[in-house]
Amino acid sequence: MIFLKDEDFIAKGNERACYYHPNDKTKTIKITFENNNRKDSKQSEKEIKYYKQLKNKGLNNWQHLPKYFGEVQTNKGNGFIIELIKDYDGKISKSFAYYLKKYDLKKYEKQVEIYKQYFLKYCIIFNYGMMPKNILLRKLSKKESELVLIDGLGDVSHFTILNGIPAFARRRINRRWDKFVKKYL
Ligand SMILES: Nc1ncnc2c1ncn2[C@@H]1O[C@H](COP(=O)(O)OP(=O)(O)O)[C@@H](O)[C@H]1O
Ligand SMILES: [Mg+2]
Repeated sequence: MIFLKDEDFIAKGNERACYYHPNDKTKTIKITFENNNRKDSKQSEKEIKYYKQLKNKGLNNWQHLPKYFGEVQTNKGNGFIIELIKDYDGKISKSFAYYLKKYDLKKYEKQVEIYKQYFLKYCIIFNYGMMPKNILLRKLSKKESELVLIDGLGDVSHFTILNGIPAFARRRINRRWDKFVKKYL
């Protein structure tokens, strides 16, 4: 059992909150908080299941996802440990939504394309959580950056069996990607 202190709180969304891992500041623990806006949160369950699948598949490129380090019990409920996404200067990376408010999308065209190709190459399925506030822009240097999906991993459809076939998975990824672009970019 890990004890999370209030002062180690990082940020929260509609359902989940992130805290610094008490023994490792490169990691964060994500928990589902009580009284979250959605009554029955299955989001973490889905995410954990999908992380396990990716590990079993032997995924070795985690460039655009936080690395996953397993489940934990905490004083604030069950959670899981993932990589804390940080910029080259050590600050926690800000969301893509933040940068899109400040700058034109054109500035990030290359990063967006590389990011899309990553999901297609490794057949990584994302859901409707794929939106600018759930993507962090990790600055690698003053000029270079890459996108990381922190919320929206895994499938929401009940019909996941075909995802094992790369051609089907890619079709689904392309369809969801097009919706993401149309709605948010
Ligand atoms: N791996 C991470 N690295 C840094 N910050 C993160 C990470 N995961 C989540 N966060 C922060 O915590 C917030 C809530 O996490 P998120 O997974 O988006 O929860 P929710 O499902 O409630 O939206 C995010 O908006 C982001 O600010
Ligand atoms: Mg979120």
